[in-house]
Amino acid sequence: MALGARPSYSEHMLIMGIETSCDDTAVGLVVDGRTVLSSVVGSQVELHARYGGIVPEVASRQHILSLIPITQRALDDAGASLNDVDAVAVTYGPGLAGSLLVGVNFAKGQALGRGLPLIGVNHLEAHVYAGWLLGFDPSEGPGFPLMCLIASGGHTDLVLMEGHGQYRLLGRTRDDAAGEAFDKVARVLGMGFPGGPLVQKAAEAAVGKEKLTRPWLRGSNDFSFSGLKTAVLHLAQAKGLYPPEEGVEPDPQQVAEVAAAFQASLVDVLVGKTVDLARQYDVQGILLGGGVAANGPLRQQMEEASPVPVIIPPVSLCTDNGAMIAACAYYREQSGLDLDVLPSLRLG
Ligand code: KG4
Ligand code: ZN
Repeated sequence: MALGARPSYSEHMLIMGIETSCDDTAVGLVVDGRTVLSSVVGSQVELHARYGGIVPEVASRQHILSLIPITQRALDDAGASLNDVDAVAVTYGPGLAGSLLVGVNFAKGQALGRGLPLIGVNHLEAHVYAGWLLGFDPSEGPGFPLMCLIASGGHTDLVLMEGHGQYRLLGRTRDDAAGEAFDKVARVLGMGFPGGPLVQKAAEAAVGKEKLTRPWLRGSNDFSFSGLKTAVLHLAQAKGLYPPEEGVEPDPQQVAEVAAAFQASLVDVLVGKTVDLARQYDVQGILLGGGVAANGPLRQQMEEASPVPVIIPPVSLCTDNGAMIAACAYYREQSGLDLDVLPSLRLG
């Protein structure tokens, strides 16, 4: 059957979501945008570790190698075959152009080969829809509008979601994204990549001896974390942690204090601004998404400070995955086979 002539989606719709916007190759299978049958993520962390950051060309080439085996694993985990899949969804932006191209062309091949609808998905919107994978449904739950904080390695966006596909961007970072700040602080403290989980872990040992300034950027809904990053660098220098000395192990207690002071400042600002806007716009709920939403203190503090219910996906669905792409696609229109990548795509 020709693409586009497919009958309307069956009562239960199984979508395969493909994600290759950055350094993770991920495929997820989701029923009706809510129930995860499988979610397989192939991390490239070790591959890029020796370069100290993501090398775009290396990432694209690894996506090419990983996509088929990861798709097969996602199907196996779900106990499904390609014949069961009703639509193929894929991230078309934002992200690294080469990485996006690999995923989009793979998805087109699958869709064309099987006569399935192709659905292009905005990666940022997918981070929001990871919240639906909890079984959260606005028609049953808190309802719209929602105040969404999407905090990842590339974005820190405050978005008012007024309905499915209806977004107003209210605030964003003017420099570093929250996840990027975690990653850079981790580098200063001699940790690996991605930095977020490592900084969080190190901070657990702190006794709270240090305090850093809060970059509130009063009068604006925007964020700016570059000053905080510099303050961390100065504190690390003052403690003799930076630059690292050859053959000298940094004092773990001092590392913990710096990590905790940074994390506390960043979390205070993320929570404070999100809750302020939630009140101002009289929303029904706050929704967190993106890799930084995996952060324990952020999750806890947001729950404590919010006057409305807080929706946060489980940690494994906060960081990049294919299930969130499939969840989002359930609410999106079919794309043409001329779907192109948009590396700078935004939301709202
Ligand atoms: O959403 P994501 O997986 O990829 C992008 O779309 O960027 O987010 C990755 C970012 C990285 O910067 C990583 O350090 C951060 O999320 N991250 C965390 C935590 N887990 C991942 N940041 C703080 N605390 C965490 N537990
Ligand atoms: Zn992401």
